[in-house]
This record gives sequence, structure tokens and C-alpha cells, in this order.
Amino acid sequence: MTGAPFEPFRYAHDRFGEIAWMCQNTNHLVPREAVEPAMLEAIRERRYTMYPPGKGDPELLDLVRRDFGLAPADPVILTAGGTESLYMLERALFRAGDELISSDPGYPIIHRFAELSGAVVRASPVYAPPYRLAIEQVKEAIGPKTRMILLIDPLNPLGSGYSREEVRAFAELAHDHHLYLLNDVTYRDFPEHHTLAREFAPEQTITVWSVSKNCGLAGMRLGGLLATPDLASAIGRFHTNDLGVDVVAQWAARSALLTKSSWLPAVRRQTRENEARIRDVVARVGGTALPLFPGAANMLAIDIADTGIAPERLQEEMLRRDGVFVRSGAYVSPKFGHRFVRVSYSNPPSDIERFARSFPAAVARLRAPGAGAS
Ligand SMILES: Cc1ncc(COP(=O)(O)O)c(C=O)c1O
Repeated sequence: MTGAPFEPFRYAHDRFGEIAWMCQNTNHLVPREAVEPAMLEAIRERRYTMYPPGKGDPELLDLVRRDFGLAPADPVILTAGGTESLYMLERALFRAGDELISSDPGYPIIHRFAELSGAVVRASPVYAPPYRLAIEQVKEAIGPKTRMILLIDPLNPLGSGYSREEVRAFAELAHDHHLYLLNDVTYRDFPEHHTLAREFAPEQTITVWSVSKNCGLAGMRLGGLLATPDLASAIGRFHTNDLGVDVVAQWAARSALLTKSSWLPAVRRQTRENEARIRDVVARVGGTALPLFPGAANMLAIDIADTGIAPERLQEEMLRRDGVFVRSGAYVSPKFGHRFVRVSYSNPPSDIERFARSFPAAVARLRAPGAGAS
């Protein structure tokens, strides 16, 4: 008799405080003071007994505008995480048979939402240098049915970022071909420099943002989208929640954005230090390698194909033995997911040290006899 299949998230949440959470690109480095007093204030005032303003707290909307360099009248749509924005905009803008140009690896829910609207996803392979979409690849993929280009910058799961020139080239391509450009900037605060596509193609670009990763608020489920007034109103028709998004989340996001400049440099610094430590660990484990280093975000893929170990097995082994939760690649890549695990590292150094002990030991235990040197 075989037991029930192992459920890694169930297992990890049951042991919440014991886990080194390196599986979902979450950020564990934002100081508590940046968000918790604001959340507690909302609770003390019993804000939860009331619906928040339907379109969002005006001060939060202004802070988002300031964060993105927008004008006071520019539309900002707030949603339950960037995920809800992705759903709305894809339902609003795709018709059956339309095509979305994307990448493999990439972020799968965006593909699923496109398919819900009857659209077809054309995912170009990017698990090879430069580990992000190349402009030529996208040009080749454009056909009569193409409706949208997806530019996730930096890219989950590979951690690659686009240069200003590349962003400009994608924006101009979208403009010249009358295509929408979906610019998912969930990880935009991790690199020192980042360019928004809307700067070059304001009419075409829908910017999806989030406070889940930059502000360490994944559990609060808050994000949104930016677009021209016309596009925002077309997309807004698909808003599932006219009564507004979580009020405690809005208070947390307001406080985080207000204080961001005081804590973001330290978050970046620790993230880059952790990344270098992970590089050193991986370099000592035969048969494993980082396809891309350094990253622009707070995650990297670790290629383990030469060890002969299935990523799911490594994930389970590290989680069960050591409470270190890295993510197998299958989730983010139909073509290449069997080759890698993704590790995220906006974590305290103690988590990274747990990784440093767990990864080499788990690979040594699971390594197929005769595969890759140790
Ligand atoms: C590229 C990308 N977009 C969007 C999201 C969704 O983020 P959220 O719904 O938490 O804002 C994620 C989460 O991992 C992501 O990696």
C-alpha cells in the first residue's frame, strides 16, 4: 500500500517557524517596524469591521504613484496581489485565438490565465545564455495573432534582469506592432537599477506590481496594475472586488512604501551577500551549477541535471531532513524544470547557513552512483 503523496507546502506550513523559506522568492529581511505597527493600528481601530474605500486608501494610492513616478491623476488599480491584476487584464484583453509571447522558464499562472481566455501561449526557450528573452526571439515569434508580449523583469525563476536598452527595444517592438506589453515588475526593487517599459510605450504597457516580495508582505495579498486611463477602465470592468482589498494589507503597504528608502538598501545588500554565499556552496558540489550569476532579483536556478537527481527528490530531502525549502523547477518550466531547483535568498544569514549545510549533504545522499563527481 502506498501512502498519500507528499505535500511540501502542507508539511512546511505545519512547521512554519522551523522552516528556512527559500521556495517562493519571499522576503524575510524587511524590518518588522516598517509594517507591523501600521497593521496593529488598523486592528486596534477595528478597521476590519468596515469596508475600506472601494478603490483603495487614497494615501496608499498616492504612495504607489510616487513609487512609480506617476502623475496625481494617473490610474492605480489595487488588487489582491499582483495575481488578481494578471487575471483581470488577461480576461479583459485576450480573445479566443490570440497569442501571448512568453518564455520557458516563466511564471505559469500568467499562461494559465491567458488560456482561460482561449489565448495560446508561445513560450520561447530561455534556459540558455542570456537566460532571458532576446529581442530577436520575440521578433521571430510575432505573428498575425499575437496580441501581447510578456516581459517579466526581473524574471522568475531565473533571476535575470533586462537592461534599459533591452526594455526600450521590447517597448518599441510592442508599439510598432500595436501589441500590448505586459510588464510584470514584481521583483523590480531587488536590482540597483530598473527600467519601466511604460517609459517608452505608455499606451501599450500594462505594469503589474506587488508588495509581496519587495516589501515582504506576500501573506497580505496586495498588488495592482498601472495603465492608461482607457486601458485601466477596460480592465477595471473585470475587477472581482468592488468592495476593496484587505484593509490591514493596505495599512501595511502604506507604511512599507513610506519607509522603503530607509530599509531597502540593507535588504539588497543582504540579498546579494546571501547570493554570493550560495554561489560558493554550489561551486563545491560536483554536478551542480548556477546557470546565471549574479541575479537581478532574489532567486536563482541551480542546475542539478548532472547529478542524476530529480529536483522533486532534492526538494523533499532538504525539506524533510533539514527544514530547508527550495523549489523544484517543474512548476515554472515544462521544458527545463527537470534540470533545476530554484532557491530564493532574501532571508536571514542563518537560513543561508542551513542551506549551506543541507544542499551538499542532500546531493551526496541522493546522487545516482556514477553520476557527476562529488
Ligand atoms: C513574476 C511574478 N508575477 C506575479 C507574482 C504574484 O505575486 P503576488 O500575487 O503575490 O503579488 C509572482 C509571485 O511569485 C511572480 O513571481
